[in-house]
Amino acid sequence: MAVTAEILVLGNWKMHLTDAEGVTLAQSVAETASGLGAGVQVGISPPFPYLQSIGETISGSGVLLGGQDCHYQSQGAYTGDVSAPMLVDCGCDFTLVGHSERRQHHHEDNGIVFDKACAAIEQGLHTVICVGETLKQREDGSYLSLIGEQIEKALPERANRQTVSIAYEPVWAIGTGKTAGTEDIIEVHAHIRSVLGRLLGEDLPRVLYGGSVKAENALEILSLPVVDGVLVGGASLKAGAFAEIIRAASQTGS
Ligand code: PGA
Repeated sequence: MAVTAEILVLGNWKMHLTDAEGVTLAQSVAETASGLGAGVQVGISPPFPYLQSIGETISGSGVLLGGQDCHYQSQGAYTGDVSAPMLVDCGCDFTLVGHSERRQHHHEDNGIVFDKACAAIEQGLHTVICVGETLKQREDGSYLSLIGEQIEKALPERANRQTVSIAYEPVWAIGTGKTAGTEDIIEVHAHIRSVLGRLLGEDLPRVLYGGSVKAENALEILSLPVVDGVLVGGASLKAGAFAEIIRAASQTGS
C-alpha cells in the first residue's frame, strides 16, 4: 500500500507486547482507522516476529505495516538482522531507519542509515528516516547543524515525497514525557524543510514529529502547519491513547 495521505500517524511498538496483545491492539487500531478520510494514514511497526500475524490482523483495513529497522544488505551472514526484502515479504509498506535507539545502542552512523534507506527504497518501502539531537547538542546550540548533517548524509538520491519521510525526534524527548515545545518544533521543522528544499528542490518528504506524543498534546502538535504527522512510541501501545491521537490527526488532516 502506498503512502499518499497528507498526514501520517505511525506507532512504533519497539520491543513491547506479546503476539496476542499485539493482535488485540492492532484490531483496535484498524477499527479506529476505518472511518478516516484520505487525508490521514495510520501505520504500526510491531516487533519483527509479529509482522505476519499483525499484517493479517490489519489486512484490508488501510493501516500500514512497517518494520522498525532493516539491514542495508538484502541477505547474508548478519545474525539477528532483518533485510528490506524480508520486510516486503512479510507485507510491510514502510520501515523506520536511523531511530536514535539504533544509533545509540547499535552504533549506527549517518553512513549506515544512508545505506539502510537506499536498501529500503530499492525494495519499494516508504522509508522514515529518524533524526534528532541529544540534550547536550541542544544545550550547546549545535542541534540545527547536526540535524542538517544527519539529513544530508542519510538522504538517498531517490528521496521524494513518495519514498521518504523524515521524523524529527529529539532524543531528550523520547520516552521521557518531555515534549519539545511548539516553538522548538516549528524551528527545527522549518530548518528540516529548508535543508530538504535545498537538496531536493520540490516534492518534499513529509516531516513528522516524535518524542512523547500523547493524547493530551497530539492536537496541538498536529495543528502546526510544519508538522505532517507524528511518530508515536509509548502512547501507541495503549489503544485508547493511540485512538485519540488518530482522531486529533483527522481533525487537522481531513
Ligand atoms: P515515545 O517514543 O513516544 O515513547 O517518546 C517515540 C519514538 O521513539 O519513536
